[in-house]
Amino acid sequence: MGITILGIETSCDETSAAVLVDGVDLRSNIISSQIEIHKKFGGVVPEVASRKHLENVHPVIIEALDKAGVAPVDLDAVAVTYGPGLVGALLVGVAAAKAMAYSLDVPLIGVNHLEGHISANFLAQPDLQFPLLCLVVSGGHSDLVYLPSRGEYKLLGRTRDDAAGEAFDKVARSMGLGYPGGPLIDKLAKNGNPQAIQFPRAYLEEGSFDFSFSGLKSAVLNYLNRAKMLNEEINKADLAASFQRAVVEVLVEKTIMATRKIGVKTIMLAGGVAANQGLRELLQERAALAGCQVFFPPINLCTDNAAMIACAGYYKYLRGDFAPLTLNALPSLPL
Ligand code: KG4
Ligand code: ZN
Repeated sequence: MGITILGIETSCDETSAAVLVDGVDLRSNIISSQIEIHKKFGGVVPEVASRKHLENVHPVIIEALDKAGVAPVDLDAVAVTYGPGLVGALLVGVAAAKAMAYSLDVPLIGVNHLEGHISANFLAQPDLQFPLLCLVVSGGHSDLVYLPSRGEYKLLGRTRDDAAGEAFDKVARSMGLGYPGGPLIDKLAKNGNPQAIQFPRAYLEEGSFDFSFSGLKSAVLNYLNRAKMLNEEINKADLAASFQRAVVEVLVEKTIMATRKIGVKTIMLAGGVAANQGLRELLQERAALAGCQVFFPPINLCTDNAAMIACAGYYKYLRGDFAPLTLNALPSLPL
């Protein structure tokens, strides 16, 4: 068998384990989601998440190995997310990975969660040529990242307040849609008019690749409050479509601006919000006009999963980039 990596991901509310051979042959990717538990609180409760990871991590790893038809002794390395994320949640995966690496006497590989999201693209497209530009949009991050070569990340811009996914979740909550809000707004938006309501777009200073979504979130709240006060009926589909369009336009404009500034022709999307249909479509449309190509992972590899961690781990394995058994969870780990 080729180089066989076990990936483990527990940074937020998904306990996941995956087995990946030679960086492309995904033998298993088990995801145990806690969404149903956190739903009733309207968001992830960190302490509950840690406890559930603790219950799930062992069965999920066993299931991933079983499904892959791989015995623990066949593993060449164990790769695990060690940040950024919820510290108690991360610790569960890190402890499990350390125990396995130590007992099997194989290298331990620490993976940055964002590097994992970006690497989901290499699972589907292992031949992508550098340099690349990646827009990483998730529940915790909105980062524009330049990759001059494999394993090299230069942060061009980031959110100054809410992350894109966070804005989706908060707006969905204020519309009474439930959690997580991104997929619900995405679905509603398909039947709405994105021009119906004019929401603000925050481009910040000229030339800045940073993002800001809190003003937009407040504008939606004001719109909802006003309608309530006046007893006006709101069209939820139009509201979802108009809000989504305001987020997506800024994300896409800044990404295209960055390709011009840096001279990159290939764009990747990553993170949970990369599943958004409106974002995928507008980015493809604008990129085509700018002479750029766009790649994105399949929907099930956009949100949190261990396959992407195993993939990032594979390339670190090839470089001999191993972690000591003293590896710790780092909740604010930068890319
Ligand atoms: O990457 P991810 O699973 O977790 C983090 O690392 O944060 O991203 C989760 C985020 C949530 O905010 C969720 O609402 C958003 O991704 N999301 C979406 C869609 N699917 C998930 N946002 C917009 N449209 C979607 N289709
Ligand atoms: Zn994530």
